[in-house]
Amino acid sequence: MPRLFFALRPDADERAALAGHAIEAARAAGGRAVPAQNLHLTLVFLGERPLSLLPALEEAAAGVRAQAFVLPIDVIDTWRKPRIAWAGPGTMPSALRALQGDLARALERIGIPPEERPYAAHVTLARKARLAYSRALVPPLSWKVRDFVLFVSESTPSGVAYRSLACWPLRITATSG
Ligand code: 2AM
Repeated sequence: MPRLFFALRPDADERAALAGHAIEAARAAGGRAVPAQNLHLTLVFLGERPLSLLPALEEAAAGVRAQAFVLPIDVIDTWRKPRIAWAGPGTMPSALRALQGDLARALERIGIPPEERPYAAHVTLARKARLAYSRALVPPLSWKVRDFVLFVSESTPSGVAYRSLACWPLRITATSG
């Protein structure tokens, strides 16, 4: 069964900046940089699901009414147990909480229970990190969040690849930034 997740996808400039941080974090933490094309911020991880679920997922995602926003990525840090270096917001922005919460509730209505562990917004920069590494990003990377994507994770001869299945725009208003 395909492995599915909803995530934010950086634009070309944001991706290039994150890819630079991935190389730096992999060097500093002694890990392997995530390839630029794989950089993303997960909203909801669904795990292995049948393709027959796709119409219900698409309908649930289409009902999300969250606003577009600017996400400040201002921290690089490492987590010891999953052995990753990551970049993310040092404090959870309310607009991201609203989007993630809306999506999780829409999924719950179609029978997908929310994750038990609290949501921790992060972009994985490097895997198999051996050393702790942490720094502030000054100035922060201002990620313009305009839409969200349903991805399928696929194994390829050169490693895992994430393919976009569908994408939903967020609402643009005068206060979206
Ligand atoms: P990670 O980057 O911290 O590993 C695709 O696997 C995406 O879903 C990744 O961003 C991954 O987070 C995230 N994810 C969340 N929960 C997961 C789980 N239980 N297993 C694998 N990936 C998970």
